[in-house]
Amino acid sequence: MCGIVAYLGENNAIPLLIDGLKRLEYRGYDSAGIAFIDKDKKLATIKRKGKIKNLEKEIKEDMFSNIGIAHTRWATHGEPNDVNAHPHTDCKGEIAVVHNGIIENFRAIKDFLIKKGHKIKTDTDTEVIAHLIEDNYRGDLLNATRMALNIVEGTYGIAVISSKEPDKIIIARNGSPIAIAQNDGNYYAASDASAIIGKSESLYYLKDKEICVMSREGLNITTLDNIPVTPEFQKIEFDLSQIEKGGFPHFMLKEIYEQPEVIMNTIRGRIDVENGDVRLNGLKDYKEWFGKDVNRIIFTACGTSWHASLIAEYLIEKLAGIPVEVEYASEFRYRNPIIDRNTAVFVITQSGETADTLAALREAKKKGANVFGICNVVGSTIARETDAGIYVHAGPEIGVASTKAFTAQIIGALLIALYLGRMRKLGYEEGKTILENLLKLPEQIQTLLKEHDKIEKIADNFRNSKNFLYLGRGLNFPIALEGALKMKEISYIHAEGYPAAEMKHGPIALIDENMPVVFVATKDSIYDKVINNIEEVKARRGKVIAIATEGDEDIRKVADFVVYVPKTIDVLVPILTVIPLQLMAYYLAVYNGCNVDQPRNLAKSVTVE
Ligand code: F6R
Repeated sequence: MCGIVAYLGENNAIPLLIDGLKRLEYRGYDSAGIAFIDKDKKLATIKRKGKIKNLEKEIKEDMFSNIGIAHTRWATHGEPNDVNAHPHTDCKGEIAVVHNGIIENFRAIKDFLIKKGHKIKTDTDTEVIAHLIEDNYRGDLLNATRMALNIVEGTYGIAVISSKEPDKIIIARNGSPIAIAQNDGNYYAASDASAIIGKSESLYYLKDKEICVMSREGLNITTLDNIPVTPEFQKIEFDLSQIEKGGFPHFMLKEIYEQPEVIMNTIRGRIDVENGDVRLNGLKDYKEWFGKDVNRIIFTACGTSWHASLIAEYLIEKLAGIPVEVEYASEFRYRNPIIDRNTAVFVITQSGETADTLAALREAKKKGANVFGICNVVGSTIARETDAGIYVHAGPEIGVASTKAFTAQIIGALLIALYLGRMRKLGYEEGKTILENLLKLPEQIQTLLKEHDKIEKIADNFRNSKNFLYLGRGLNFPIALEGALKMKEISYIHAEGYPAAEMKHGPIALIDENMPVVFVATKDSIYDKVINNIEEVKARRGKVIAIATEGDEDIRKVADFVVYVPKTIDVLVPILTVIPLQLMAYYLAVYNGCNVDQPRNLAKSVTVE
């Protein structure tokens, strides 16, 4: 949510910052801007509403600077327009700040600054930081920034430059990620690694309340209380090709097609088919506790990751026999969750930066829980703050709508369910069967992806639909929710997901000849009941799209359209059934001319509560 890039070094900062912003555009695209020190050692600021291409048009070829900061915005305070775009400056236009996060006490600070004669120009919370730095400036930018940050309350990742000290960038963090990197006299900072890839092989994520001075002498990191910090740089784990589209028209489509490979990456080195077991080094310090003591598990997450949690609930209860509850992370700390010594709390997150999930994690830790992560982004805040956990290794997910990370999360949850199950009630044969079938999934997904033409044609029939209903039972219920979420977020078509049997308790009133109903109706123990639900929709002239098991000819008699998924065992079904739903949302978004990778009002990692 909001992207920040900063550069100081030998090269022209301006194209470099624009390139970095483009790689971060998925984090927010309401406006973009840069600030740099120009040839006359003055501060220059350019900012524009909308996408980075609007900003790019304002950049003249002869503009040069070797120091600058840049920002792509996801608006929280103040509407998206040129004025509210970052960077924000002080009264004299000598200090510029870019910020990711929310300053919670900005109103009080604003009043204080106005009383002191500061001229506030924007509706944003961020602008007060620039004025506070100005107010505290006594010839030392670092010190003034420190003093300003001691006054603000809330979350921030910031970068500051000033014409008063033109060879310096100050970077600081509290709650919003900032990575820094260096290479041969060039220094970079960004709100995530994708802006830095290709510039340096390693990076350091600033910790909360750390502040860094980048200058031609190097990096100097301290805490806000001025205690020196020795940064431990870590290797960047992915390369440039992973954050490019690789011939696909959209990142989302590329990421859908990456799912077979993602599954292999998630399970690599972790499965022991012969013994029907899994190895999870990330949980090994807690193995005995999981084996003997844990008697209840809570999963907490947001959005798509919450849907993956619902699947985790089903898998763990079925395979390990441990009761599981699933909570929206945004609700978790606003009630009084009951946690005791034998409760394990798991958070699922792609980005590892979601503010609501982080707040839930911290609440669970405060209550004494051991907290574990199922996380994609290595080194992210949540990955660091959990006691232990597993990475899902889906690789960078750039499309704002989560696809491959969801699949990887389900696989991660399955590995955990097997791990717990094999320590408890799950037999070796059953474990082995699951793993053998798991290994077939990548090829089965490849087969399913070949059906893309058919799914595209089905989607074509519903170009003008204003609503969709998604229904499924058991493990296909979270998939119905996920299908509806994908449809809403990228094609802006209203969609709802329900357990199929719930339909008759209300949603059935919506059904008429204009209502497409997607049934996730694979052959399982409740298949017949789902067929009854389909009949109920047909009786009311609804249009039925069924996601069914290969070979199920009967379903053709009741459904208007059928997409077949290959046969697999029950616990693996959701990994196949979600794929046609991802594709259908994708094609409808394309038909409707929507920006698939950057849907309106959304951002990739939601770092505000
Ligand atoms: C939907 C989507 C969001 C995220 C949610 C949690 O496609 O991407 O619903 O799943 O914001 O994000 P993470 O997983 O990064 O915590």
